[in-house]
Amino acid sequence: MARRTKIYEGKAKILYEGPEPGTIVQYFKDDATAFNAEKKDVIEGKGVLNNLLSEYFMKGLNQIGVPTHFMKRLNMREQLVRQVEIVPLEVIVRNYAAGTMSKRLGIEEGTQLPRPIVEYCYKDDKLGDPLVTEEHIAAFGWASQQDMEDILSLALRVNDFISGVMFGVGIKLVDFKIEIGRIYDGDFQRLIVADEISPDSCRLWDIETGQKLDKDVFRRDLGSLTDAYTEVAKRLGVMPKTSTPITKPTLIN
Ligand code: TYD
Repeated sequence: MARRTKIYEGKAKILYEGPEPGTIVQYFKDDATAFNAEKKDVIEGKGVLNNLLSEYFMKGLNQIGVPTHFMKRLNMREQLVRQVEIVPLEVIVRNYAAGTMSKRLGIEEGTQLPRPIVEYCYKDDKLGDPLVTEEHIAAFGWASQQDMEDILSLALRVNDFISGVMFGVGIKLVDFKIEIGRIYDGDFQRLIVADEISPDSCRLWDIETGQKLDKDVFRRDLGSLTDAYTEVAKRLGVMPKTSTPITKPTLIN
């Protein structure tokens, strides 16, 4: 079989040319990075879990009429997605204070916010994805006023959907990040949810115990990341249906 053409390799995913024009194969790696890649590790099984979890969220969004780039899962690590032009923004929605918001504003982690707060960061690893305002976005032409209205509406619909789904399995959606893609249908362009939605880009806390079930487990050395993501996958009923465990069993001496 001919080797596929790699389009891009990021921190957690590789993108290959898809089988049809306008499609891309998104491969989920086991690599974990935090603090702008200053902390790195390979977490066996993370890619498989994120592939399945992102499929679950994106499929659900498509079904309730929130457009996403997701087309179908191809195997345990790959999914077929629509090719998009990525809007250079990280769109963050917060329901409870945590992470940089807590640090920046001195609000205790876990404080419920009066309403969901949407923030935008400019996607640039060299600059550490700085927080920007709609003024910067408009002035530098990263997105138009109409785009910003559509992005806000997509972000809030994603927030309501994922919050509801997670609430149903006893998990609080503290915050998350999405990326937005632009697609062209003839003369029209549309914005859709792209990239991934997984515990790598969300904060998920158990409602009863407050246990963290997201990438903070890795960022803050709180235990096994695979166990945390597996717990989320189990509760949502999306564990891989194979007899092979995601990680190798620990050998007992
Ligand atoms: P934030 O608290 O701003 O940053 P950090 O995770 O470094 O403390 O992040 C808010 C949420 O958005 C959190 O769930 C992580 C996610 N996020 C990403 O996945 N990638 C990013 O580049 C950024 C800025 C945030």
